[in-house]
Amino acid sequence: MARKDPARRAAELRDEIRRHDHLYYVNDAPEIADEAYDALFAELRALEDQHPDLVTADSPTQRVAGAPLDSFPTIEHAAPMLSLESDKEEEALRRFDQRLRKALAQAGHEGEELTYVLEPKLDGLSLELVYEEGVLARAATRGDGVRGEGVTANVRTIAAVPLRLSATARPVPPFLAVRAEVILRIADFEAVNERLIEEGKAPFANPRNAAAGTLRQLDPRITASRPLDVYFYDVLAARWPPAGRSRGKGGPPATHQETLAALAGWGLKVNERTRPARTLEEVLAYHRELGEGRDDLPYEIDGIVIKVDDLRQREELGTTARHPRWAYAHKFPPRKEVTRIERIVPSVGRSGVITPVALMRPVEIGGVTVARATLHNREEVARKDVREGDRVRVQRAGDVIPQVIERLEEEGRERPAPWRMPETCPSCGTRLVERGPYTVCENGFGCPAQRAGRLQHFASRLALDIAGLGSENAELLVESGLVRALPDLFDVTKDDLLRVKRRLADGTQRGFADKSADNLLAAIHKAADTELARFLYGLGIPEVGDKVARDLARHFGTIAALRAADEEKLQEVAGVGPRMAEQIRAFFADPRNAEVVERLLDRRVRLRREAGPVTAQLAGLKFVFTGGLPTLSREQAKKLVEANGGHVVGSVSKATDYVVAGEDAGSKLAEAKKHGVPTLDEEAFLKLLRKHGISVTA
Ligand code: IVH
Repeated sequence: MARKDPARRAAELRDEIRRHDHLYYVNDAPEIADEAYDALFAELRALEDQHPDLVTADSPTQRVAGAPLDSFPTIEHAAPMLSLESDKEEEALRRFDQRLRKALAQAGHEGEELTYVLEPKLDGLSLELVYEEGVLARAATRGDGVRGEGVTANVRTIAAVPLRLSATARPVPPFLAVRAEVILRIADFEAVNERLIEEGKAPFANPRNAAAGTLRQLDPRITASRPLDVYFYDVLAARWPPAGRSRGKGGPPATHQETLAALAGWGLKVNERTRPARTLEEVLAYHRELGEGRDDLPYEIDGIVIKVDDLRQREELGTTARHPRWAYAHKFPPRKEVTRIERIVPSVGRSGVITPVALMRPVEIGGVTVARATLHNREEVARKDVREGDRVRVQRAGDVIPQVIERLEEEGRERPAPWRMPETCPSCGTRLVERGPYTVCENGFGCPAQRAGRLQHFASRLALDIAGLGSENAELLVESGLVRALPDLFDVTKDDLLRVKRRLADGTQRGFADKSADNLLAAIHKAADTELARFLYGLGIPEVGDKVARDLARHFGTIAALRAADEEKLQEVAGVGPRMAEQIRAFFADPRNAEVVERLLDRRVRLRREAGPVTAQLAGLKFVFTGGLPTLSREQAKKLVEANGGHVVGSVSKATDYVVAGEDAGSKLAEAKKHGVPTLDEEAFLKLLRKHGISVTA
């Protein structure tokens, strides 16, 4: 096939990648697998490497984090970024509604319909984004409302921000300033904090602070490493194309609903929970609904925003110096309260980590009674300097475990000595060890506090998936002495199960009936035939989640290969860094764990081979492809490598094993020379595969 004109192919690829970005990040409905997307991206990157003149500022490849800045430039907003009048009392909302209807009547709109648009009030930070000729030109924080900080380099790393707008029903204005809210989803906030705490750094107090701290990073690489999200909700200023001066089709929108539709049409994500309303009752119902569902949302909201839909009515109503008269925020009750810490107790988690837990005088926060809060680790206790008896501010965010935000100073109160981590495990008495900022009981299954949790984890859905072995039955099996170590689970008999009984605090008894015993045994039997990835995850190796477990299984193929791997070999797996490699090594090196693994594999558990790669002849080898190969397509070559356990990566480094270069190979060839990486042409590549025992048919 004749090779396509590279400029045309690059444009095609960009459109295609943008379309998939939109499907994935905005619509949350991807059409293709990650691998297929990666292949498109790699092809575009290779084309641009070969033809640097084809690179455009809005190319998806340019969404990379740039170099750190010394400071942010000041940027004047295209129009003032106003804030909202807000209150949490229903009475205040009623007054707003009355005031508004009266003002409209006075302005001669008597008898006119009044439609509101209701939106969730996202608890993030406000951003102005300017698109010139449809291309993202700059972005700024709200600042003082007139001028903000230019955070363009950071905003370019946000996947949900298109670098170029798509022109659909409504043409893209040559100049367009839009307003959006940048947020960090609760799950991502937790992950960011977990990382910070692990590194011994101070965690963020809430998702909003985390989003703000991330956006105002001078190093865009840090911003890029934390998945910020964004919702667009207004046009701040625009120069509309001459054809559509009049409101309506093509020109400026006439209502807020049209504005939102236009934003969505240009590829800007708008909130899916937006809804029109005619009456105050509908507004109150929406507030109630969102308030009740607040804990189930993936992001934090702190109220609802009520906006007049008709933009002509908005003009009549006007603005005060600080906020528009046509919009209003009806807030939810705060999720922060003040209470007192009664005791701080060490709690032993499933993996043996000892967490200091604050037991507090019960307090109601946003409809939930809170009496416990995590203090993470000994360094957090020291940093916050909280002690028994202290008055503290506590918060609940989403369904996140309640947190102690800060200690409140009290004059004249005698405080006890700072809290200290115990030296031995409160559950089994083993001497505790310090691992970074964490304190750990390394007694594993020997520690009663860890046993039930570890068993439950081993049986959980992503591990061996043993139906009927939840927390209650795990405790039953452990407390009755039937399961002293994981392998014992497979030796349990029906008679054993029928014999165990447990008396609960309320006097009732728990145990197994004939049928439930049969069911559990059948589930254990079935689960004994499992995959390496599930087995690895189930072992509860510190820091090894289900994804890493899958990558390890795919990379090494067998448990023997994994156990034999040193830290360097382990780090060849994507996503395994030096810390994790050390943890994995240490886990298998511990004789207690080695015994558990051996007993499990001794006729109890059978490991199936991973469905992923067919073979592992190329395990650990990293390939970079550049230029077109004479007979193989890029896709075919990539498949050959990956099906045999190798990896295809996008850029050359000293960790690359081979660069396979074809016609028109670009800068990667020079990179290979620089790092001393061997380069192969297609023939040599095929020879290498054959040498590894991989059969290659033409
Ligand atoms: S409209 C002139 N809509 O709330 C209208 N604001 O307290 C300006 N916010 O600074 C704002 N969600 O950061 C609007 N759906 C939403 C919002 C929203 C969150 C924030 C925004 C603003 C603050 C005002």
